[in-house]
Amino acid sequence: MGRMKIADVAESIDHELVSSSDIHDRIAEIARQVSEDHRGDDLLLVGVLKGAVNTMVAFSQALSIPVTMDFMSLSSYGSGTTSSGSVKVRQDLSTDVRGRHILVVEDIVDSGRTLAWLVDEFRRRGAASVEVFALLEKPARREVDVEVKYHGFDIPDEFVVGFGLDYDERFRNLDSIAVLKPSVYQGAHA
Ligand code: IMP
Ligand code: MG
Repeated sequence: MGRMKIADVAESIDHELVSSSDIHDRIAEIARQVSEDHRGDDLLLVGVLKGAVNTMVAFSQALSIPVTMDFMSLSSYGSGTTSSGSVKVRQDLSTDVRGRHILVVEDIVDSGRTLAWLVDEFRRRGAASVEVFALLEKPARREVDVEVKYHGFDIPDEFVVGFGLDYDERFRNLDSIAVLKPSVYQGAHA
C-alpha cells in the first residue's frame, strides 16, 4: 500500500533488476563513504533532472555532512531509448560554481556523453573539483571515458525504468529498478 511496485505495472515490466531495499542499502553505503571523504569540504551536490531526483533525495538524507544542493536539466534522450548525442541545457543551476567542490548525482551512465559534457562544463565554469556519483552504469554501452568515483550498480545493456528513470515520462515513481518489456517501446520510437 502507498507505493508503486512492479506488481502495479506488471503488464509493462519484464523483470526486476534491483530491489528497493538493495537500492537504499547501496546508496547508504556510498553516502557513508562520501561523508568520510568530504568532511569539512562544503560540498555542492548537483542533481541531473529529472532522473536523479529519487537518488538525490535518498542519498542526501543518508549523508552525515552538511551539503548544499542544486539541480540542472539537460536534454539527452527525448522520448526514445537511444542517445541523441548532443547535450542541451534546459534549465541551469542557480549556483555560481567557481571555486566549489561539486559532486554530480546521476541516475545512469549509458554512453557517458551527458556526464562527460557536464563535468567539462563545470571545469570551464571554474569549479575547484568535480566528482561523480551514478546510481547505475551500463559498461557495455560506454563510448566516452569519464571517471565515476562513486557508483551503485553495473547493469546489463537493457532499457530500465524506476527509481527516477523513465520511459516517455512514465515509471519514475516505481520503487525499484526494472527492465521494461521491449513491446512497450517497440514500434513507438526509433
Ligand atoms: P548517456 O549520455 O548516453 O550516458 O545517457 C545518459 C542519460 O540517458 C541518463 O541520464 C538517462 O536520463 C538516460 N538513460 C540512459 N539509459 C537509460 C535507461 O535504461 N532508462 C532510462 N533512461 C536512460
Ligand atoms: Mg539523467
